[in-house]
Amino acid sequence: MKKGVNELPEELFLLVTGGAGFIGSNFIKYMLKSHFDIKITNIDKLTYAGNLKNLCDIEKDKRYSFLKGDISDNNLINSLFKRKHYNIIVNFAAESHVDRSMLDASPFIKTNVKGTLILLEAARENKVDRFIQISTDEVYGSIPKDRKFSEKSPLHPNSPYSASKASADLICRSYYKSYSVPVIITRSSNNYGPYQFPEKLIPLMIRNALLDEELPVYGDGMNIRDWLYVIDNCKAIDMVIRNGKIGEIYNIGGNSEVRNIDVVHIICKILSEETGKSKEYLDGLITFIKDPRGFAHDFRYALDCKKIKENVGWEPSTDFIEGLRATIKWYLSNTDWIKSVITGEYKEYYNKVYGKR
Ligand code: NAD
Ligand code: DAU
Repeated sequence: MKKGVNELPEELFLLVTGGAGFIGSNFIKYMLKSHFDIKITNIDKLTYAGNLKNLCDIEKDKRYSFLKGDISDNNLINSLFKRKHYNIIVNFAAESHVDRSMLDASPFIKTNVKGTLILLEAARENKVDRFIQISTDEVYGSIPKDRKFSEKSPLHPNSPYSASKASADLICRSYYKSYSVPVIITRSSNNYGPYQFPEKLIPLMIRNALLDEELPVYGDGMNIRDWLYVIDNCKAIDMVIRNGKIGEIYNIGGNSEVRNIDVVHIICKILSEETGKSKEYLDGLITFIKDPRGFAHDFRYALDCKKIKENVGWEPSTDFIEGLRATIKWYLSNTDWIKSVITGEYKEYYNKVYGKR
């Protein structure tokens, strides 16, 4: 294929950052399974959220390689490009948890802002064909019922996490405008699925319910999130790489808005069906706790996804209840994985946010 402004070479060589995390590891496996002519290098710092066990089934695939490293390390990123030419950078690497950002914002700024800048510089110098920035619907802030955010909505981030992601989006925009770096930004809603670290709502509730521990719901549980099955997101990112337009932003939503308290009740129902524990018993573990996010807790996220549907041809295909059942079944069959990620650091973090109960 002749390489033009928006065209890609046939064989793609991807530099995926943060590929040992939840979405990144699902994405790498999805891409290797879906495409033959592809090579992927995964660079990941292996923070508490990065886990090479997520990738054990593909670690011997000759098309895949791993490097432990920090995206905010300029020398390392430069040396990487001296060794190989990557067509595409897909930047998943981030500090990704809102509650942690409220305890200490500095690693969020270092990785999410400075790290993105360093990758953009490498993309500029080495003339990559695409720079895909994995952003979030949280950059738009909270939205009242009956409205949705489009890609043109203003940015109103409320937590240090979302502010760091919004900052990175703006730096990406400036590199596209100033230096023609071929940036595309995706902003997805809340992902769920296998390999999600149990600090996020869904895996935390599954883990706690399996251990007969309390299910801590922030505030009154009325906050709304739009749930997106992780594989649907991986497919969307793949399609954006191929069919997306350089310089554009694409919202990626799950079309599944659910109140937090309802998510937890549905988890209890499915877990009861899958394990035989009584639903009443599991519901009884639900504990409403003082909201650790306070005023920074966004009430609702909701995305208008017309643009990706009409221009890229993507829409979500996983029903929330089906996706949640598949996720719960995965956690039930992978209790060793859960045990392996529950370290002393996790327990310390848990006590800070939830208090010793
Ligand atoms: P995650 O926390 O599970 O994984 C993040 C990965 O990045 C980990 O493997 C970690 O080791 C790695 N990492 C952290 N700092 C690094 C650094 N300095 N250098 C290299 N690697 C580093 O996160 P996730 O949920 O998979 O999210 C991936 C991306 O998607 C993030 O950019 C996040 O902002 C975005 N996002 C997530 C969601 C969601 O619901 N999880 C929704 C929208 C957008
Ligand atoms: O919207 C996209 C974002 O989704 C991503 O950018 C973030 O990386 C990702 O972490 C996620 O952020 P949220 O803050 O929405 O996800 P979390 O799973 O932490 O919380 C979902 C909702 O559940 C939120 O309203 C807070 C609430 N919650 C969360 C936890 C961990 C509880 O009520 N109890 C809990 O224990």
